[in-house]
Amino acid sequence: LTFAFEQSAAPIDTVERARLLANPGFGRVFTDHMAIVRYNEQQGWHDAKICPRAAFQMDGASAVLHYAQEIFEGLKAYRLADGGTALFRPEANAKRFAESARRMAMVPLPEAIFLDSIRELVRVEKDWIPEIEGGSLYLRPFMIASEVFLGVKPSSEYIYAVIASSVGAYFKAGAGAVTLWVSQDYTRAAPGGTGAAKCGGNYASSLVAQAEATRQGCDQVLFLDAVERKWIEELGGMNIFFVMDDGSLVTPPLTGTILPGITRDSILTMARAQGLTVREEPYAIDQCRADAASGRLVEAFACGTAAVVAPIAEMKMKDGAFTIGSGGPGQTTVRIRDALTGIQFGKLPDPQGWLE
Ligand code: COI
Repeated sequence: LTFAFEQSAAPIDTVERARLLANPGFGRVFTDHMAIVRYNEQQGWHDAKICPRAAFQMDGASAVLHYAQEIFEGLKAYRLADGGTALFRPEANAKRFAESARRMAMVPLPEAIFLDSIRELVRVEKDWIPEIEGGSLYLRPFMIASEVFLGVKPSSEYIYAVIASSVGAYFKAGAGAVTLWVSQDYTRAAPGGTGAAKCGGNYASSLVAQAEATRQGCDQVLFLDAVERKWIEELGGMNIFFVMDDGSLVTPPLTGTILPGITRDSILTMARAQGLTVREEPYAIDQCRADAASGRLVEAFACGTAAVVAPIAEMKMKDGAFTIGSGGPGQTTVRIRDALTGIQFGKLPDPQGWLE
């Protein structure tokens, strides 16, 4: 497929763009164009284009509006020191997008179309990558079921699109430490459910627990497993890592109920390459609390494409709060964050060939 290009007739002017890029926050500043590809059974994937970003016109009976057949991805384009631009492991996003589609009974988008859509959009919108420290262009590919039909069945038509958002830090705390609310009433995903798919529904179901976290004065919710309400799974939109006093890393295993994060995978690979001991194994919240008290657990951090690596200072639950380590960014967390962002911004060697 080749992407036709329809240039925006009314792009945001450069003065206004510079103003927006000086302090973009997360997910509020959008570029002038988007990518779109359509699917139907007669034509397959067709009508690929980069066009002005505009509102979608949808029939009220479009399947996605009723039964939530929807998936998305998140990846970033970086401005490199030499003025070029780079993507980080976009093939991994393309692959996960196809896997999410299969779980949601959607037609998987060929990975080559996913990659072309991203590359074409970044080529057109590269001036929207902020120059601020840690700034990037967050790409949000998504696919929705667009068949106009109220029966409950997989849609026969889909719209795939990519929008782009200039972003800085995800958390208001910037690179500071965040606090977690341990949700003991709500769970995110059950065995056999959609926890490993990046579908909007997982995030919708996290919101009431996230609201509880916010009411408790915490930045993010931490979910436990749905069966025993014992094992740490992940945050509302990020994976979690623990650093033990012997320098080893622990993170929950991919058993089908947590999102297989690309940042998670990259950290595991980098840590193993540096000779760190890494264990993907279940970690109970009670053990976590006991280890924080005894000093066996020295650091914890959240990771994801949007948040990158965010140190966790404190966890709060119904029967009290506890601090992890010093309650500030730990040295291993900072080292991992710097190693990862060093590769992403082209400042450090990239032995795995992740940047492209
Ligand atoms: C990410 O891109 O890191 C996400 O998982 C989405 C969301 C938390 C913004």
